[in-house]
Amino acid sequence: MKQNHKIKTIALLTSGGDAPGLNAAIRAVVRTALANQLKVLIAHDGYEGLINNSFQEVDEGFVSNIIHKGGTILNTSRSERFRLPKWRKVAFQNLKKAKVDAVILIGGNGSFAGAAIFTEEFDIPFIGIPKTIDNDVAGTDFAIGFDTAVNTALDALDKIRDTANSHHRLFFVEVMGRDLGYIALHCGIAAGAEAILIPEKKTNITDLMRQLEEGWKRKKSSLIVVVAEGALKKGTHDLAEKVKEKFPHFDVKVNVLGHMQRGGSPTCFDRVLASHLGYQAVHSLLAGKKNVVVGLVQNKIAFTPFSESSRTTHSMSEEMMNIAKELSK
Ligand code: F6P
Repeated sequence: MKQNHKIKTIALLTSGGDAPGLNAAIRAVVRTALANQLKVLIAHDGYEGLINNSFQEVDEGFVSNIIHKGGTILNTSRSERFRLPKWRKVAFQNLKKAKVDAVILIGGNGSFAGAAIFTEEFDIPFIGIPKTIDNDVAGTDFAIGFDTAVNTALDALDKIRDTANSHHRLFFVEVMGRDLGYIALHCGIAAGAEAILIPEKKTNITDLMRQLEEGWKRKKSSLIVVVAEGALKKGTHDLAEKVKEKFPHFDVKVNVLGHMQRGGSPTCFDRVLASHLGYQAVHSLLAGKKNVVVGLVQNKIAFTPFSESSRTTHSMSEEMMNIAKELSK
């Protein structure tokens, strides 16, 4: 492959909410860059690191023994300052001072929106690697972290099922996902949930009540409703209260899984995805690509401009929603 010899030094950062597999992606970028004679500077705390001039040159050893670890060894932030032109200018000046020729950004929607603006304002190539447990980045079928998060939620649901069965209880389990129901739909199907509530489909409370009552009449030993955090205007506790009022004989519990879904050791799938995308990010930069997100679409490498990836979201398949509905009887 023809190499872009103008690129000698790259900066690497993680930005936005953390997700399992970030360290595997960092390792892949650092190792691939060094193998291709590039100098690697990491920036700490996401875009804040660019603004604070917080760079550090790293070698192969820096990324030893991290592939299996959750979190990000670079730390991260949702930078408010990077939204403002004056701080973006400072970030660019710092990149120039550090003689950075290109940037690899491991981020999600918000970070890519920032990169779209930054790369329009300043002439410096960026490549984005998609990560987020919500799986809401357009331009990739799977973002790094989603598979691990959904398996963590599934593990919790299996455990909840044990105790729910023992006591014949109804559990509402709230999972993350921001405005989309990917996590809810996937872990709900895998856990055999009685109902899955997602933002993509308006919840019909009357239908839900009927469904729960039918389950009760069929003497199901437990009932689990998986609720995506963005599915209900008034939230999961409010819904649980309404169900309790209507069915006082139900023993109702609510479990909000929360940030535990963001932590933990990444799955094999996420480690391989992170390694693949990290490797491709460096090679695509060297091949002259810029200002795109590198993703996997139908198992093939795909490039999507920042502007497009941050404008649209990865939409959920109707078929998966139908599967969930039909199997939950
Ligand atoms: O985008 C990942 C995510 O965990 C969402 O699922 C959730 O809505 C949000 O981040 C929580 O953000 P924070 O960690 O800033 O509370």
